[in-house]
Amino acid sequence: MSLRLKAILPVAAVLLAGLVVFVWVSLSFEDPERRSVIAVAAAGAVAICAALLAVLAVLVQRPLVELQEKIARLRDGDLTVSVSFAGRNDEVGDLGRNFNDMVRQLRESREEIQRLHRTQMSRAEHLATLGELAAGLAHEIRNPLAGIAGVIEIIGRDLPEGSPGREVLKEVQHEVLHIKRILSDLLDYARPRKPNFHPADLNDTAEHAVNLARQQALSRPVEISLEKAPGMPPVEHDAGQMQQVLLNLLLNALQAIDGAGKIRVQVVSHDNQAVVSVTDTGRGIAPEHLPSIFRPFFTTKGQGTGLGLSLARRVVEDHGGKIEVTSQPGQGTQFLIWLSFRRPAPPPAAS
Ligand SMILES: Nc1ncnc2c1ncn2[C@@H]1O[C@H](COP(=O)(O)OP(=O)(O)OP(=O)(O)O)[C@@H](O)[C@H]1O
Ligand SMILES: [Mg+2]
Repeated sequence: MSLRLKAILPVAAVLLAGLVVFVWVSLSFEDPERRSVIAVAAAGAVAICAALLAVLAVLVQRPLVELQEKIARLRDGDLTVSVSFAGRNDEVGDLGRNFNDMVRQLRESREEIQRLHRTQMSRAEHLATLGELAAGLAHEIRNPLAGIAGVIEIIGRDLPEGSPGREVLKEVQHEVLHIKRILSDLLDYARPRKPNFHPADLNDTAEHAVNLARQQALSRPVEISLEKAPGMPPVEHDAGQMQQVLLNLLLNALQAIDGAGKIRVQVVSHDNQAVVSVTDTGRGIAPEHLPSIFRPFFTTKGQGTGLGLSLARRVVEDHGGKIEVTSQPGQGTQFLIWLSFRRPAPPPAAS
């Protein structure tokens, strides 16, 4: 029922009641003087009702119609609207003031979001330029470094067995390898390759990574176990990239264990997704470090580059999946990787 009808109905009801009373009274009273008094009274009642209607229209209906118009403009994105009845000193005025306040807050929030967006965009552009620069530099350094590594090897071969110089050269070679690894990680990070999706057994991918990690743990009392998901359907993924991700997690786990310990890799299917977990009994991650571990270059290790986990997260996200971590300092850490069985739909082409 429209508002106008709702406002008119009670007034019309009063009018009708007045008319009924008038008819009843005029039939009951035969005295013409009394009848004319009642007629005047009835005319007065009609006039009051008409005046009431007019007042109602000005006080309530007009502001509501204006409010509706302004809400429609607001819905179309016009945040400059305000209602004119906000100055009134009654409930309708309160409504107007609240509406104007709400629009002002919306306007301020939108301006803040736009300002933040502009700042983020310019920061992203700066970072992109820096990234390009770093990648270019890494590429340029890699070639002379390969030359230096070659020369060191030749010099090492020419040195007599047991000469102290050989030990020094081993150290130099070790450091050169370290720099090479940092550069490769940096290049992988700065110029990521999109995954090459193929349906493959995720159990096999995990097994390859576990075998590589076992090689690294040969001389250590660390047991690396693998629990496969028997009969799990193939998962569309880039086996090489995902193997690298799991190896990064396994090496982190190995590096987190002092002395003896256990690392468990488990492949399961859960909630229509494939899940790989890597759980270790290492020293765990301090709560204040947890929010930073996926940030590029965050490391707590002397020899770390801090790119392992940020690369891992990017690869997993490129697969449309997610990576999660939980850790208990002093007890261990668990990483979970969630992947869909089907590759993520490509983003719609820009028109
Ligand atoms: N399993 C884990 N147990 C304890 N700490 C971990 C574990 N995995 C990651 N971390 C913490 O997260 C940090 C970041 O890990 P990330 O793999 O990105 O870099 P990194 O291992 O330090 O260096 P890089 O992998 O590049 O050689 C580590 O330095 C470590 O503090
Ligand atoms: Mg690492």
